[in-house]
Amino acid sequence: MCGIVGILGREPVALALVEALRRLEYRGYDSAGVATIESGAIERVRAEGKLRNLAERLHNHPLQGHVGIGHTRWATHGKPTENNAHPHATAKVAVVHNGIIENFRELRDELRQRGHVFVTETDSETIAHLVTDNLNNGLSPQEAMAASLPRLHGAFALALIFAGHEDLMIGARRGAPLAIGHGQGEMFLGSDALALAPFTDTITYLEDGDWVVLTRAGATLHDGTNRVVARPVQKLLASSQIIDKGNFRHFMAKEIHEQPEVIGRTLAHYLDMAHERVRLPFELGFDVASLPRLTISACGTGYLAGLTGRYWFERFAGLAVDIDVASEFRYREAPMTPGGLMLVVSQSGETADTLAAMRYARTQRQHVMSVVNVPSSTIARESDIVALTLAGPEIGVASTKAFTCQLAVLACLAIAFGRARGLIDDERERQLVRELIAVPGLMAEAMTREPQAEQMAHMLSRARDVLYLGRGTNYPLALEGALKLKEISYIHAEGYAAGELKHGPIALIDETMPVIVIAPRDHVFEKTVSNMQEVAARGGRILLLTDAAGAKATGLDLKALIMPDMADEFTALVYAVPVQMLAYHTAVLMGKDADQPRNLAKSVTVE
Ligand code: AGP
Repeated sequence: MCGIVGILGREPVALALVEALRRLEYRGYDSAGVATIESGAIERVRAEGKLRNLAERLHNHPLQGHVGIGHTRWATHGKPTENNAHPHATAKVAVVHNGIIENFRELRDELRQRGHVFVTETDSETIAHLVTDNLNNGLSPQEAMAASLPRLHGAFALALIFAGHEDLMIGARRGAPLAIGHGQGEMFLGSDALALAPFTDTITYLEDGDWVVLTRAGATLHDGTNRVVARPVQKLLASSQIIDKGNFRHFMAKEIHEQPEVIGRTLAHYLDMAHERVRLPFELGFDVASLPRLTISACGTGYLAGLTGRYWFERFAGLAVDIDVASEFRYREAPMTPGGLMLVVSQSGETADTLAAMRYARTQRQHVMSVVNVPSSTIARESDIVALTLAGPEIGVASTKAFTCQLAVLACLAIAFGRARGLIDDERERQLVRELIAVPGLMAEAMTREPQAEQMAHMLSRARDVLYLGRGTNYPLALEGALKLKEISYIHAEGYAAGELKHGPIALIDETMPVIVIAPRDHVFEKTVSNMQEVAARGGRILLLTDAAGAKATGLDLKALIMPDMADEFTALVYAVPVQMLAYHTAVLMGKDADQPRNLAKSVTVE
């Protein structure tokens, strides 16, 4: 999604804005721009494509203003051109915007009738003209904002500067995050904490509906009813954390290799390793034993983590589970038994559909729990209980370590629920916890299979279509493998339950289509061998992810990547490593940008 930065500084701010925007590049964008106030007038420089294009423009056309706003745009309305790049401006106001103004067409028609001339196809430009219209009516910038915000429908985060006002910047948030940075005689705005880290470690998050008037002396916060409110000032956790690739070529490669460490850190947060027990770091606040139902909802990889978790909640805790992608769930009007638990899974904690799904569940009197990687995120702050993943910032757009950390948390929750519902005794708990504690070491061993994964990637890089098959918790992993491959290599890939092969997908099988089978030698392995025989009989080329026993047992001519032996329950966490590596190396072989794939954004804060 887009990135916002604003600086009310004591020296020229344009280059600092660009540097701050660089820390938001991971969010995905296709154009960028800055605006400052110089001698009372608004000056803008914008560029299509990457920030280096904007920096080059600024080198040729330096901006000297001491107050300014910057933006990286991920196009929603209007092509990714310089003209559509933010900031959008009139002679009186410049604005940068994250999100979507859903009623921009009717506002635009109304403003056109009042003489406003629009020069872009974007919804964001409407904001500049609406505020200007209020300024034209003699309102102050603060009054103009108070009058304009109620007219805007949709989700947004905004930052604005005003001609003739060198000591003023205004921000607003509704549905998309925005934070204030407190400096020494300077003030900042940022769409997330990473953008503010170079300037300050003292921040305030706006709540939904809030808007803020900044001067160099400080901030005046208003809520959605324009009442002046106070919000907590907090210290940034990641203030000095410099996000870099280390000695990896891409953030995605680094984050794949970080998994043993961050899984270990996450498990330590939920397990009493010494006594081999689950120890949740929070009170649930409801009686698990009488929970009528669990509903899980999320998007993308988060959804696939939830789909994996369903197997564990059913198996370990005997819980009935409903699960759906959030973009469907939010509109299904699903009947929900009051007192049930809604569990949402989100790395960013800002995904609009997931937030809407949990808000629907709230209306159905559900307890709401979230599994998130960003403790200050909107989803976290609207949850009754927050189950944190400790993956650290995930910069690669394709989720890897956050996914496996989500699995780790879901596994711990399922075991804890099973204990609370009397379905897991001490011995079974110790056994499952031991298996979880073994996962980081198994993942570290799985990393040594990278050469084989890279070798297999050569075959995938020449494919037009790829099929992934799995059973049990390796079925959602097959879906995740297909998602990883398609989102970074742009090869069409599908994941299927292996048992579904004969119900249609087998028609696809021929020598041109690689079939990746995720099948450790577990209780359903023999069934999957039958599926592989069906594929082999039709000339399909099988790449099998299995263990040593599995590789021996197929009796087929296929390429196998041999994984370390492990117990059945948590293979999805460990087999995720080769699945991720296959996608990564295929993308690299094809010359794709594994960290910032085309058309994708790290956090989808619009629906
Ligand atoms: C995963 O690789 C994708 N980047 C995408 O599907 C992502 O999982 C989805 O947008 C949900 O994001 P969230 O976890 O931040 O809610």
